[in-house]
Amino acid sequence: MITHDIPQDELEPMWLLNQYRAAEVHGAGVILRLSRLADSLQLRNDLSRHLRDEAVHAWLWTKAINDLGGDIVEVDEPYQTRLASHFGIPRTLDEMLALTWVSERRGVEQYVEHLDVREIPSVIRRTLRGIIKDENWHVSYIQEELERRALADRKVQDIMDRALVADQRAVEELKAEEAAVGAQPGRVT
Ligand SMILES: [Fe+2]
Ligand SMILES: [Fe+2]
Repeated sequence: MITHDIPQDELEPMWLLNQYRAAEVHGAGVILRLSRLADSLQLRNDLSRHLRDEAVHAWLWTKAINDLGGDIVEVDEPYQTRLASHFGIPRTLDEMLALTWVSERRGVEQYVEHLDVREIPSVIRRTLRGIIKDENWHVSYIQEELERRALADRKVQDIMDRALVADQRAVEELKAEEAAVGAQPGRVT
């Protein structure tokens, strides 16, 4: 655990980095489950590379936290919890892909927002830059896969729309909650 002699404002970045780390670990677990359901060679290939990326990202945040003198702590995942509660338990490959797609989009948005903050330690900036490149690819290949599947089965478009609505509701709830407690907006991972 983080010790009490660190000033309160310095605890904040560690909390956020632990959120990032938890989101990447969670992402690796989801991609592992997805890869067992993959129904084409292309998707199996893409998910293998994706799984590698998420595991590397989890390690990069672990390393950044260590380099900055922080500790690895268990944190809640408020966005994932809300996303799941609005969408329901994903039961098919299409549903899992759609949920991963919206979740990856939010992840990129949050990382890019963080990179826009001018004064961040170079280790965080470097880590963000490296990860964002991978995350952009995650969003684009999953979107292309879903669009391909939607051409063959019109139900896939409905699933994508449902995932977008669940994502929107999850983020609105988080923002309302953060506004109520006066925290910074945009923490969705
Ligand atoms: Fe990632
Ligand atoms: Fe990702």
